[in-house]
Amino acid sequence: MKIAVTGAYGQLGGELCRQLGDGAVPLDIDTLDLTDGPGIAKRFRDLKPQAVINCAAYTQVDQAEKEPGVCRAVNVTAVEHLARACRQLDCPLVQISTDYVFHGEADRRAPYRESDSPSPQSVYAQTKLAGERSAAQNAKHLIVRTCGLYARPADERASHFVKTMLRLGSTRSELRIVADQHCTPSYVPHVARAVLFLAGVTSRGPAPWGVYHVVNDGATTWFDFAREIFRQADMELSLQPITTVEYGAPAARPPYSVLDTTKYHALGGPPMPDWKAALAEYIQQWKRPRHGGP
Ligand SMILES: NC(=O)c1ccc[n+]([C@@H]2O[C@H](COP(=O)([O-])OP(=O)(O)OC[C@H]3O[C@@H](n4cnc5c(N)ncnc54)[C@H](OP(=O)(O)O)[C@@H]3O)[C@@H](O)[C@H]2O)c1
Repeated sequence: MKIAVTGAYGQLGGELCRQLGDGAVPLDIDTLDLTDGPGIAKRFRDLKPQAVINCAAYTQVDQAEKEPGVCRAVNVTAVEHLARACRQLDCPLVQISTDYVFHGEADRRAPYRESDSPSPQSVYAQTKLAGERSAAQNAKHLIVRTCGLYARPADERASHFVKTMLRLGSTRSELRIVADQHCTPSYVPHVARAVLFLAGVTSRGPAPWGVYHVVNDGATTWFDFAREIFRQADMELSLQPITTVEYGAPAARPPYSVLDTTKYHALGGPPMPDWKAALAEYIQQWKRPRHGGP
């Protein structure tokens, strides 16, 4: 087995490489810059991977508003290069995407299905949707949309909401958290397991080509997620709910971007635990002293 994982130093790429073990060919910017089209074609011709899982991305949602060209180069043009290389090798391409492709009207409460029309609001989200379309240029493609990723505590490079809350929780007595964005924060080990199932690594073969939603079960807001993090971590803080407008981030976020995972579960993939149970797995590991817990 030889699965090329791009963005291998990132949260999801790193976890996929960990789960794949010797079957992974980890690639990141120091070994393969995805903005180098000819470099990609040559590398994959030599490598002849059985599948490519693209976890590389420009993921700084707010910074993307200031440098759309850089964001586009990684999230769109690089995926075009990857799709072309995969097409030439007749190799499946798994492209990781995001819940942010949906607009998510504030009063919506119906989880988005794969067949719903995307309507991205930010530069990051627009480039991720364009990247999905680039990936689909290769007939053998799987597009996996996920949300609010947090890697296991042992991943020291990763930066994510849970880690930020636990850091702030040990230095602050009060925090203001956005309470009007509804989504499903998802634990990277669970998402990685589902991706390997869809890709056919841990199943009898790849899933039918197309788009899949993969997130932990249930839905919450960043405010309620933070409250649950501090409850499980035995930290006492005063939390103030604020609106997205009050928070004032440069990039627009969907007020509602819960994803319907029926299509994934219909294939019999590994379970995606409820978001509180997923968080409990993280916190349990974090509480072990070497992972920075109390
Ligand atoms: N994080 C989330 O909450 C979230 C939510 C929904 C969907 N997603 C999607 O899930 C996927 C994985 O996200 P993640 O959080 O694991 O990302 P991440 O931790 O930011 O990792 C992305 C990796 O891609 C690398 N990269 C950037 N530009 C590159 C280039 N030109 N060539 C090669 N590698 C390059 C990055 O390197 P540098 O660090 O050096 O830039 C980094 O190692 C992405 O497609 C993302 O859009 C993420």
